[in-house]
Amino acid sequence: MSEFATEVLGENDPEQTEKEAGKVAGVTEIEEGAPWNAVEDAFLRRRSIRKFKKKQVPAHLIRRMLEVGRFAPSQGNCQPWKMVVVRDRDMIEEMEDFCVASCRKIAGMVDYTVYDKGTFARRKTEMMAKLISRSKPNSMHPVPFAAVSLVAQNRFAVFHHPPTIILPLMDTRGIGHPQIDLGIVGTNIVMAAHSLGLGTCWVGLASFLNESPEWRERLEVEEPYEIIEAISVGYPLGKPMRNTVSRETHETVWLEDGKKELIY
Ligand SMILES: Cc1cc2nc3c(=O)[nH]c(=O)nc-3n(C[C@H](O)[C@H](O)[C@H](O)COP(=O)(O)O)c2cc1C
Repeated sequence: MSEFATEVLGENDPEQTEKEAGKVAGVTEIEEGAPWNAVEDAFLRRRSIRKFKKKQVPAHLIRRMLEVGRFAPSQGNCQPWKMVVVRDRDMIEEMEDFCVASCRKIAGMVDYTVYDKGTFARRKTEMMAKLISRSKPNSMHPVPFAAVSLVAQNRFAVFHHPPTIILPLMDTRGIGHPQIDLGIVGTNIVMAAHSLGLGTCWVGLASFLNESPEWRERLEVEEPYEIIEAISVGYPLGKPMRNTVSRETHETVWLEDGKKELIY
């Protein structure tokens, strides 16, 4: 355990650890309607940041975020991840160029919306889109589909030009669904960054890098690891979007004392 984590969590005394965790989270009796606490507030206020200052983030802050990541829960405590941190501006631009080129290739094959109705090109790309949506339904969701198309048209960036990129690699040997563990370790990192005044953006389009033997080698990604996401990190430029990203009020099934209720 690093010095930092030892200081926060104590050596190996579970009771002390629990007490400390309770103190940090402010666990007391909380009345209905009480204001959000600091942790809840941080989760509610975090927004994806897509414009960064040029200024580099000090390395010790990145290490601090990784340390918080290291304590993420994972199924069976299998910790199916390994981090790659890229802070080389030329390399970041090359990664951007590679992913943009990949988006162009994909858009050329499946983005039928850019062709006029009734044309051969439209019919061909529509057919290809249908085929892919059958074999990989999630990848053809309108949101990533639109993002790929915008990137291909130079109207959206892939990484958003941050000074630092963290690639949480997934160990495919992880227990159960290692993707979930990756999401959790990433959330720890993103929330630690937010608490330090830094901005982050998850980048699913980074997974194109995993398809390239050259990029896997340059980023030292070896079997059984995979690049499935990236997290761009930097100082936010301008005001982040506040409350502009809508959220669903999902139906919740509430089962209590033999009764069933639906709440929203
Ligand atoms: C796994 C994952 C992948 C994402 N990939 C991208 C991406 O490639 N590009 C991007 O600009 N945003 C990406 N995002 C950010 C989402 O668009 C964003 O979280 C969502 O719109 C909600 O907005 P908020 O983060 O500001 O609350 C991704 C988010 C997650 C969790």
